[in-house]
Amino acid sequence: MKRRTFLKSAIATGAGLSILPTGALAGKNSPGNKLNIALIGAGGRGGAHYNSIADENVVALCDVWDKNMVDAAKRFPKAKTYHDWRKCLEQKDIDAVVICTTDFTHAFIANWALNRDMHVYLEKPLAITVEEARVVRASWLPKKTKLATQVGMQRHSHDNFNRLAEMIRDGAIGELKTAVAWGNRQIPKPGYLPAAGSIPEGLHYDLWLGPVKTDHPYNPEYFSGRPEANCLQWNMYWDFGIGQIGDMGSHTMDLLWNAVDCALPTSAEAKGEPFNPDVTPVNAEMRFEHPANSWRGPISLSWYQGGAMPNQPSSYVDINKIGHGAMFKGTEGIIVADFGSRVLIPLGKDGSLSYYKPRKPEELLPSVGHFQKQWLNACKDPSRKTACDFEYSANMIEQMCLGLVAYRVGKKIEYDGKAGVTNNNEANALLKREYRAGWTLNG
Ligand SMILES: NC(=O)c1ccc[n+]([C@@H]2O[C@H](COP(=O)([O-])OP(=O)(O)OC[C@H]3O[C@@H](n4cnc5c(N)ncnc54)[C@H](O)[C@@H]3O)[C@@H](O)[C@H]2O)c1
Repeated sequence: MKRRTFLKSAIATGAGLSILPTGALAGKNSPGNKLNIALIGAGGRGGAHYNSIADENVVALCDVWDKNMVDAAKRFPKAKTYHDWRKCLEQKDIDAVVICTTDFTHAFIANWALNRDMHVYLEKPLAITVEEARVVRASWLPKKTKLATQVGMQRHSHDNFNRLAEMIRDGAIGELKTAVAWGNRQIPKPGYLPAAGSIPEGLHYDLWLGPVKTDHPYNPEYFSGRPEANCLQWNMYWDFGIGQIGDMGSHTMDLLWNAVDCALPTSAEAKGEPFNPDVTPVNAEMRFEHPANSWRGPISLSWYQGGAMPNQPSSYVDINKIGHGAMFKGTEGIIVADFGSRVLIPLGKDGSLSYYKPRKPEELLPSVGHFQKQWLNACKDPSRKTACDFEYSANMIEQMCLGLVAYRVGKKIEYDGKAGVTNNNEANALLKREYRAGWTLNG
């Protein structure tokens, strides 16, 4: 029996393990109940995962730059080390991977790991094209009862996310009509960096470029950011990321997405600064239409970035003071939120709130708890759900990537999750990108 199968069946039957209440997984400290974990992207954001995976067996580390593996190798001395994630994933004893690499490799590594029956924690964004989002979701859905997935939108564990979802579903603003989110980060760049300096010893730059079709020359500026923020040196270039959307936008759209319960939009339209073929826009806004679901009618969602902002909700609430926020408008009121708090503004002269009954404490949605541990617990018992699994997160980022497509064609596009863009061939072609020969998205 494979190790993973043993762990699962041991949990299912209780064999050799004592079953403890929710949140205290049985036998956590018993050697048989540890996961074999590979950390891919061992430096930078990878460092934020050392503590949460330290209770497991870290059996593999992978990084394209030797110096970025030094700390992890000290912390996890038994792990084998790799430069190429494709080789790393060949290691037979891996149960689960934590992926902290560049955005343009996320969907690749996630698919490859799922295809090898590994649980996956993937730093945000899940993908940088519509096609990548679709493929990752399709790789996971048939395996969702046996493999745990989580996208690194860890702010989701703030209780404010649950409180917002409850208030909106319970009618605190009446019938939901529109929801908007915004982020004001602005990192303008003129274009890809020119060749400069020489590739430092120990950096496998060719592997860093990986699937990117164009052979961008080395420039030290791509690597000059502080740990966990180096992504701000490369994520705005089209070949390397999706700018603000994949960056803070993933967290902020998650705040909105969790509350509105949407799948895929039926249309997208966008506008912003003039198109730059090298760099994603700083200033842009996007609007999406979503069909009704079981608890609400159709709604429109909007995203504003880089200085573009929605209209103020009232004369006395200034949303410009919220760097990354969301706002929900209903027939009876408005909620304005940041990650940790929210404010309800009743509409109309009455504003009695008599139509709304807040939940009793015992009816509140359960806390997510420790976000990374939520995933680790689900790896050991996949009947447990994770907050940002690959269906929820793929739908969200597919919508946002579609918004960038609408921005590029400058027209309203009609969208069908299966057929693609139904009214614009140019937009349909932009749902995916080409990769360097030899690199397979779903290998
Ligand atoms: N969840 C959050 O709040 C949060 C915060 C910061 C960064 N991130 C995400 O984490 C990821 C990494 O961001 P960062 O700022 O640490 O970037 P980074 O450029 O420092 O890269 C992280 C590490 O991955 C390594 N790496 C890069 N490409 C690799 C590859 N193909 N194979 C193996 N290793 C590779 C780098 O050498 C580095 O050690 C990004 O996707 C970013 O969006 C998430």
